[in-house]
Amino acid sequence: MRVIAIANHKGGVGKTASTHALGTALGELGQRVLLVDVDPQSSLTAACGVDTAANESLAEVLGGVAPGQLSLPDVLLDVGDGLPIHLVPADIALAPNELGMVQRYGRESLLQSALAAVSRTYDVCLIDCPPSLGLLTVNALRAATAVIIPTQPQISDLRGLKLFLDTIVQIRQEINPRLEILGILVTFLDSRLIHHQDALATMRGQGLPVFEVRIGRSVRVAEAAAAGESIVIYDPSNPQAENYRQLAKEIEKWLKSGQR
Ligand SMILES: Nc1ncnc2c1ncn2[C@@H]1O[C@H](COP(=O)(O)OP(=O)(O)OP(=O)(O)O)[C@@H](O)[C@H]1O
Ligand SMILES: [Mg+2]
Repeated sequence: MRVIAIANHKGGVGKTASTHALGTALGELGQRVLLVDVDPQSSLTAACGVDTAANESLAEVLGGVAPGQLSLPDVLLDVGDGLPIHLVPADIALAPNELGMVQRYGRESLLQSALAAVSRTYDVCLIDCPPSLGLLTVNALRAATAVIIPTQPQISDLRGLKLFLDTIVQIRQEINPRLEILGILVTFLDSRLIHHQDALATMRGQGLPVFEVRIGRSVRVAEAAAAGESIVIYDPSNPQAENYRQLAKEIEKWLKSGQR
């Protein structure tokens, strides 16, 4: 199982929508997909149509000050509707647990250890990170072999992006030398906007590893989340569904490339 973190400490950049749509598109390609919601806001869990209150979650697996009482397979849910896609749901309890986890030995590797139980069950695991650089995000970046960084094409967001890229360098140096940047994913793009064009040109000029495929702004993506589906299922012929399928093909190539 290859593990990809979808992360950016900036909020509202499309991390959750991208995790869901990419996961669904990879499922359509026949990949066995595990989605992991590491965000106490539980947006991915909700977007999969799962009621967080009714289900045991990652919070009981990771634990807080004390180790969790459940193992990862205990909390898995089938959210694929016929596609091979499972979800590890989140819960708001992850927030206090994150504070407690600080006191644990191996605090940065708790998610990686939990995922070891299912490493042969899935081809790919996508981790939806919270908008922070806290211990939950660090756990995701420790467990991952690669990271996808969604960002809006705005100059004001590029400074934050630089900060996040610096964080990746530090993570590599200190806890996960194999962590690779799969790419920066431009989201909410409106090509008619001059400031979006400027930001794209700046990213190109800086030689940043930006994915060729870009995700445009579409109200249908937000509608899909509200309906408990990803855009890929909700509106299959929507251009953004197509873009996420295109991205999935690139990721599939990477999966098959055999890097570890
Ligand atoms: N391409 C898009 N076009 C229009 N709306 C989108 C698009 N992608 C996501 N959205 C909507 O924008 C909002 C923020 O997106 P999303 O939740 O995916 O971002 P996020 O980075 O996960 O946010 P957070 O940092 O809070 O976790 C959501 O309401 C989502 O449905
Ligand atoms: Mg999110």
